[in-house]
Amino acid sequence: MGRMDGKVAIVTGAASGLGSADAQRLAEEGATVVMTDINDDVGTALAKDYGAHYFHQDVSDEATWGLLVADTLKKHGRLDVLVNNAGIAYVANIEETTTEQWRRTLAIHLDATFFGCQAAIPAMQQGGGGSIINMSSTAALVGIAPYLAYSAAKGGIRAMTKSIAIHCREAKNGIRCNSVHPGSISTPMVHQALESLQGFKLQEQDDPEATRKAMGIGEPRDVANMVLFLASDESKHVNGAEMVVDNGDTVV
Ligand SMILES: NC(=O)c1ccc[n+]([C@@H]2O[C@H](COP(=O)([O-])OP(=O)(O)OC[C@H]3O[C@@H](n4cnc5c(N)ncnc54)[C@H](O)[C@@H]3O)[C@@H](O)[C@H]2O)c1
Repeated sequence: MGRMDGKVAIVTGAASGLGSADAQRLAEEGATVVMTDINDDVGTALAKDYGAHYFHQDVSDEATWGLLVADTLKKHGRLDVLVNNAGIAYVANIEETTTEQWRRTLAIHLDATFFGCQAAIPAMQQGGGGSIINMSSTAALVGIAPYLAYSAAKGGIRAMTKSIAIHCREAKNGIRCNSVHPGSISTPMVHQALESLQGFKLQEQDDPEATRKAMGIGEPRDVANMVLFLASDESKHVNGAEMVVDNGDTVV
């Protein structure tokens, strides 16, 4: 018996890093998984590997959300889980961030999370409930100077998540909504940031795995295991919570 048997899940930004690990972990536990991304070649190949399905989607495009949810209901009959994971990060502080970078960051993180939650709730309600998992960051808790727009977007996701959780609790629709706040996790996004901020290339170290551990950088699966818990019925009493996955970075 898998922990996700019988459940249908959508994971956005699933062609890389955390989204890919989330999709794999949910599929391993028996979920029918729909992976979405703009990187179609990689997304399609990964979906095949995981026994999942692939749907092309730019999450910032509102129109794609109705199509995605309708297609999921038509092909798989229900929607139980939405992981709003897709994201980008510009390395730019308050003095450097351009208006274009600001708007693009908010579009991909905040707008998309809003569109996704709004599209998923009626579909989940048809099946008697569900679990929405919004990928935030420790940037939402502490603010990170060289990630101005990103910190603002992730802070918005944190507050939006709680607002949705309270609404769903009051509506008694069986839907839970929680946010996940990873610290540094070894994905292309973090590798690019390390290179841009410190000129440091993890892949070029003699032992990248030992270096990753020494630097306190987690693995995508560390976050995927939290996503799995929130997606499964094991977390049925967890709603509006901010689940930090950072090995204590924000408490030291
Ligand atoms: N890696 C970390 O340390 C870390 C920490 C905290 C939060 N996060 C968050 O986790 C999520 C995933 O990050 P990651 O590290 O795996 O990054 P990543 O760059 O490895 O993967 C991001 C994925 O999102 C996709 N994407 C980008 N724009 C998109 C769009 N408009 N529509 C659809 N897909 C789009 C990309 O194609 C890519 O597949 C992001 O929301 C990120 O902010 C990551």
